[in-house]
Amino acid sequence: MSIKDRLLHLLEQNKGNYISGEEIADALICSRTAVWKAVNALRQEGYEIAAVTNRGYILSEQSDILSVSAVKQYLTEEYHVCVYQELVSTNTVLKQLAVNEHAPEKTVVISDYQTAGKGRLGRSFYSPKGSGLYMSMLLRPKGKVTDHLILTAQAAVAVYRGVKETTGIELDIKWVNDLYYQGKKVCGILSEGQTNFENGQIDFVIIGIGINLYEPESGFPDEIRERAGTIFGKVSEGRYVQRNRLAAEIIRQMYQLAREVSLAPEYIERNMVPGKPITVIDGSRTRRAKAVKILPDGRLQIEEEDHTLTDLVYGEVSVRIAEGTSI
Ligand code: BTN
Repeated sequence: MSIKDRLLHLLEQNKGNYISGEEIADALICSRTAVWKAVNALRQEGYEIAAVTNRGYILSEQSDILSVSAVKQYLTEEYHVCVYQELVSTNTVLKQLAVNEHAPEKTVVISDYQTAGKGRLGRSFYSPKGSGLYMSMLLRPKGKVTDHLILTAQAAVAVYRGVKETTGIELDIKWVNDLYYQGKKVCGILSEGQTNFENGQIDFVIIGIGINLYEPESGFPDEIRERAGTIFGKVSEGRYVQRNRLAAEIIRQMYQLAREVSLAPEYIERNMVPGKPITVIDGSRTRRAKAVKILPDGRLQIEEEDHTLTDLVYGEVSVRIAEGTSI
C-alpha cells in the first residue's frame, strides 16, 4: 500500500480527531514531508483534511468519499473490495472480473456513480454522483439455481439490516426485492449470474444493490419522479450516513445470510405486499390478484380473481401494489 493509502486508513480510523504529523510519520515509517505530500494528494481527491498548528491533521467527520480502506476498516473478515468513483455499472464490472479474472467469492465492487446502471427487466437504474450507494457482490454458491433462489430475498434483508444498523431507519420490503421508505422506492436489487450448461451448476451469482440515499439537487428525472424516493433529503441539507460503513454492513450481512438455508424472518415481517390488491406483470400480460402471504421459501402466494391460489416465483413475474383497488 502507498503512503497515501496508509495515511487515508489512519485518518479514517481517527475521523473527527487530530493526529500529529509526527504520530503519522511514526506510524507510516516515513518523513513528515512525505506525510504532507500525501495529505495534499488526498485533498486533491476531495478529502477535507484540516491542518492545525500544534494539533496536527484531521479528516472531517462530514467526509463521505468511498474508499477501499474506509470500507475495510468496518470489516473483520477478508474481502476483495474494489472502489470506483465512476464506472459503467458495478454489476458489469464485477461480471468481467468473475469471467475474465476468475475473481473469488467475496469480491465486491462499489461505485459513487454509474454511467449506465442496470435495473431489472432491461430497465436502467438512475445512479447519480455523490447521492447513492451502488454496489455488487460476488457469490459462488455450490448447486443449481433452484437451490439458491432465496439469495435475492436475502439481499433485501441484508439492505434492511444494513440501513437499520447504520441509521436506525427501518425500510419496508416489497416482494421480490425492492425496498421502500415512506411509500417510495429507495433501493433496487438486480441479481445476475452464470450457470454451467453442461452440469447445471452455478458458476457465480452477482447481487447488485442500488440505494438512493439523498435526493439529487435537481430532483429525479421525470420518468421515475413519482415512484423514486430517498432515505434522506438533499446532500446540501447534510449527510446522515457514512456510506463506507453502510456498504461494509451490507457486505457483512449479505455473506452471512447467504450461508443460511432459510429465509430471514424480516423478509416476511417487513414485507409490504401481503394482504394488498396487486397487479401481476407476466411479460407483456398483466392480471389482477390479491397477495396472500410470503411462503417460507420466499415465493408469494396470491389469490387469483377466480379465488384459486397461485404461488409466484421471483424472476418469473413482478408485482405492483394496486392501492385502493380490490379484486
Ligand atoms: C431495479 O430496481 O430494477 C434493480 C436496480 C439495481 C441497481 C443496482 S445499482 C448497483 C448494481 N449495478 C447495476 O448496474 N445495477 C445494480
